[in-house]
Amino acid sequence: MAAVAAETGQQAPAGDVILEARDIVKTFGGLVAVDHVSVKVWRGKLTLLIGPNGSGKSTLLNVISGFYKPDNGRVIFEGRDVTGLPPHELYHLGMARTFQVPQPFYRLTVLENVLLAAPRHPGESFASPLRRLSWLRQEEELVEKAFQILRLVNLIHLWDHPAGMLSGGQMKLLEIARTLMSGAKLLLMDEPIAGVNPTLAHQILDFITRLKNEKGITFFIIEHRLDIAMKYVDYVYAMARGRLIAEGRPEEVVSNPLVIDSYLGG
Ligand SMILES: Nc1ncnc2c1ncn2[C@@H]1O[C@H](COP(=O)(O)OP(=O)(O)O)[C@@H](O)[C@H]1O
Ligand SMILES: [Mg+2]
Repeated sequence: MAAVAAETGQQAPAGDVILEARDIVKTFGGLVAVDHVSVKVWRGKLTLLIGPNGSGKSTLLNVISGFYKPDNGRVIFEGRDVTGLPPHELYHLGMARTFQVPQPFYRLTVLENVLLAAPRHPGESFASPLRRLSWLRQEEELVEKAFQILRLVNLIHLWDHPAGMLSGGQMKLLEIARTLMSGAKLLLMDEPIAGVNPTLAHQILDFITRLKNEKGITFFIIEHRLDIAMKYVDYVYAMARGRLIAEGRPEEVVSNPLVIDSYLGG
């Protein structure tokens, strides 16, 4: 852990670390957006990254998920150094990220959007009738899985509607569904409940908790509001001005004076 993070880090969850970012630095021109930040994410847990706007949260996530190359530091995923690997390679290794603004294919149906997120689309190889049979079977399984996921996120009744007709909250659910279809072990989410009404926000967080508990999926989630996500969370990191200013259990971090100051000042 970086020296600044030492304050409240003693209550880290037990168990396997699936992801570690070590001493990450990312600059844009003269601006140090992420300044020597180290975080760990534990397998099967929900880890939250909080901080006021502009504190470097999305930039850190962009480095972890391969959208930016760091100026310093390493990203370790399942014991393997993946620093600088492009997003699609990380996706194949089991790391998927959702965006702040979900981007489905608006003209395709909800179901088609979920199907397209499957890691390999086997449609190419028609070589022999035998292959074709197995292809059909695979397609069937994928459709079944997609329906299952749509049921889980409460979008099943809209399966044949164009994605462009969904509300903002439903778009977020669709994005989560697509990420689940990817089969990822680690889901990185940038403000999945931003701009969503409290009822739906809790619904999404409940659902995330279920996936965590039932399927052992790991979540690393950015959220800039302190209140709403706290009761679902196993461990929290707080950033301000590019730096890690606190980490620990949710209750500790919320009451940390540095964290409170950063929100009041920022
Ligand atoms: N692509 C970029 N080019 C230049 N500056 C950027 C870029 N992305 C982010 N920044 C700057 O880096 C800082 C951190 O931004 P960001 O990581 O988006 O913060 P957060 O997600 O915590 O709101 C901000 O000052 C922002 O303006
Ligand atoms: Mg952001």
